[in-house]
Amino acid sequence: MAKISILHTKRLLLGLTGGVAAYKAAEIARLLIQENVYVQPVMTKSACRFVGPATLQALTGNKVFTDLWDNRIDNNMAHINISREVDAILIAPASADFIAKLANGFANDLLSTLCLARNCPLFIAPAMNLQMWGNPATQRNLALLQRDDITILGPVKGSQACGETGMGRMLEAQELVEAMQIFFQPKLLQNNRVLITAGPTYEAIDAVRGITNLSSGKMGYTLARAALEAGAKVTLISGAVCLEAPFGVTRINIISAKDMLVAVRKEISNTDIFISAAAVADFLPTKINKQKIKKDGRSMSLKLTPNPDILEYVAGLPKSPFCVGFAAETENLEKNAEDKRRKKKIPLIAANLAQDTIGSDESALILFDDKGKHPLPKAPKIVQARRLIKHISLLYKK
Ligand code: C5P
Repeated sequence: MAKISILHTKRLLLGLTGGVAAYKAAEIARLLIQENVYVQPVMTKSACRFVGPATLQALTGNKVFTDLWDNRIDNNMAHINISREVDAILIAPASADFIAKLANGFANDLLSTLCLARNCPLFIAPAMNLQMWGNPATQRNLALLQRDDITILGPVKGSQACGETGMGRMLEAQELVEAMQIFFQPKLLQNNRVLITAGPTYEAIDAVRGITNLSSGKMGYTLARAALEAGAKVTLISGAVCLEAPFGVTRINIISAKDMLVAVRKEISNTDIFISAAAVADFLPTKINKQKIKKDGRSMSLKLTPNPDILEYVAGLPKSPFCVGFAAETENLEKNAEDKRRKKKIPLIAANLAQDTIGSDESALILFDDKGKHPLPKAPKIVQARRLIKHISLLYKK
């Protein structure tokens, strides 16, 4: 059996019940392991008909438990011991039958007994045919689970294995893993209101052309996720990017820097912490042509006007929130970042090398605050985002 080690951030019991969506549980296990979560699989007999325990064992490095009478547990009390070794239980998929068992406190197999004997939070991801989902009996059972503080994740509408389309499709593996990460992260910003700008702005030249930049929005979006995990209420003001906002984040789409400023002004009085991760275009064309400019073989010049500095505006407000800026530089990183922090009069700036970070899934950051510099060595952006949120929470709460 894989030993629980200090590398494991958290420990999860992953329960599988009978349903076609059981195949997604293998992916859930894989993604959780990648995030250093210790995963202990437990399967019902029906789950074993949909996916083999060997798959879950290989992915998690842990023996899979299926039997209430499993004599591999020293004191033969699998139902107590296994649930005491974890921080939470996630049942994915949770069948209609298993939900009914949970609602009524049945304990006639290992997984239901573990759930009844647990002393940790329980999450379930229902998966079933739309008629089974809509049946009053299922809805009655779900209401009971909610009353018992069991968290129900999904389901969503979508195509189902039976060929029908409707409510009852299990959430995707990635979505369930994100939900567990939200639960696992320390609640450093519980109920704080965080406003984040992300992505590029686009400044129109004419009806079809504009000035923009290569910002992917990844840093701002991972910050939104990390702030959400930390318990914050998060609003994301985003330029045009190909990313989905994490579930639970309010997203406001904008195109230009001026749109971004309008959106920020609207939100700012409801903000405790403002993180300006957007790559705002510094200039916009002085004149925007309504029609497409036609080429005539001659060169042309573009007159540009500076855009408002949104971060500087927010930092200068009489009741300004705690402000965090970003400095993407191509040279003299440290000097430029600290100069920028002082000019914009903000308590914290995160500096990175533009050529290393734009579009990448990883970044190396140096944070500058009143106490000096704090390097955050290269790591995936979600790891950096969690580190940055931690740093922000320490300064904000001082
Ligand atoms: O001055 P510079 O553009 O390098 O500053 C970068 C920081 O300022 C980033 O946090 C960026 O989001 C913010 N910014 C802004 N409005 C602008 C330009 C930059 O909020 N017009």
